Amino acid sequence: RDYRIASIPGDGIGVEVVTEARKVLDRAAARYGFGLEWTRFDWSCERYSRTGTMMPEDGVERLSVFDAIFLGAVGFPGVPDHVSLWGLLIPVRRAFAQYVNLRPVRLLPGTSSVLRDRTAAELDMVIVRENSEGEYSELGGRHGSGHPGEFALQESVFTRVGVERIIRYAFDLAGSRLGRLVSATKSNGIIHTMPFWDEIFAEVAADYPEVAAEQCHIDALAARMVQHPERIDVVVGSNLFGDILSDLAAAITGGLGMAPSGNLNPPGEYPSMFEAVHGSAPDIAGKGIANPVAQILAGAMMLEHLGEHAAARAVSGAVETVLAAGEAATPDLGGHATTAGLGTAIADAVG
Ligand code: NAI
Ligand code: MG
Repeated sequence: RDYRIASIPGDGIGVEVVTEARKVLDRAAARYGFGLEWTRFDWSCERYSRTGTMMPEDGVERLSVFDAIFLGAVGFPGVPDHVSLWGLLIPVRRAFAQYVNLRPVRLLPGTSSVLRDRTAAELDMVIVRENSEGEYSELGGRHGSGHPGEFALQESVFTRVGVERIIRYAFDLAGSRLGRLVSATKSNGIIHTMPFWDEIFAEVAADYPEVAAEQCHIDALAARMVQHPERIDVVVGSNLFGDILSDLAAAITGGLGMAPSGNLNPPGEYPSMFEAVHGSAPDIAGKGIANPVAQILAGAMMLEHLGEHAAARAVSGAVETVLAAGEAATPDLGGHATTAGLGTAIADAVG
């Protein structure tokens, strides 16, 4: 069958890595007998600086007919970061109820961890981040500009439906892996939303007696991730906590160039969106040296989500084969290969 994919390469290296990922995914589609019908949108900070908006007014509506969305990264020097986030990413995530941000991280062959002597078996975890509410909210404001008592107020929104569905998703996932789940909290300092989160976590945990459930304060959990990553398998956290922990998890494995993510609408009523965790990397944009692996692995997650399991495995297998051989490594991996060189090597390994 044919899948309709909306591609939003975005800015900077987003464009470079999406080109390589498409190369790899098209190869997998040809080999496994399905079609990927790509439609490209130029929505980006670059568009914003030309037209004043990240995407057209009916942008979300136009995306709604696709089977999935494949996003590179947005961000451009001179355009404030909140513009790209609130002008594109957050509206899409919320309109399509992409309430799960799934970020698997593992140490891939041929790469090394900044934590010395850690093996691939010890560095393999999934961060489940709440993606639709929580700390990332527009509620609040600034008051008393110029006065000594000036202050800013930022409110968080945690709903029972929102908290319960993300925690349930994480328990299901933990049950399909090692049967261990840790919830990030901070109920000692944040005394309204976090106790609410903890309470719902405990309620849902009762439905999953086969999963060892634990809660841990975010600060201690960050330390544990560095000191004892082997004790962590699936982590569930609020929008902010999950965001921070997933970058940390990516950093202790192969780095940002290796970490994919999925913004999922689990019921499948709306399209899900797949992207690399990293941004547009203006410091290396245009040089052709960005590592395309994160974007390619985001493509494997997309194939998995579309139900093309064999093709998804072929793509992640090809990434592992090429990284293990070590010949086509980009500079962040200690090599001299270009983005296109690594992308082509992975595409060829797919078959
Ligand atoms: P970044 O992820 O773009 O870059 C951080 C560092 O990692 C840089 O030194 C960069 O060169 C390196 N890096 C990132 N991806 C790499 C890759 N694939 N290969 C090799 N090296 C890589 O984060 P930064 O610098 O904080 O943000 C840059 C822009 O990206 C900002 O405008 C930010 O708003 C945007 N951004 C967009 C995201 C998205 O579209 N979802 C996510 C994160 C940031
Ligand atoms: Mg982030």
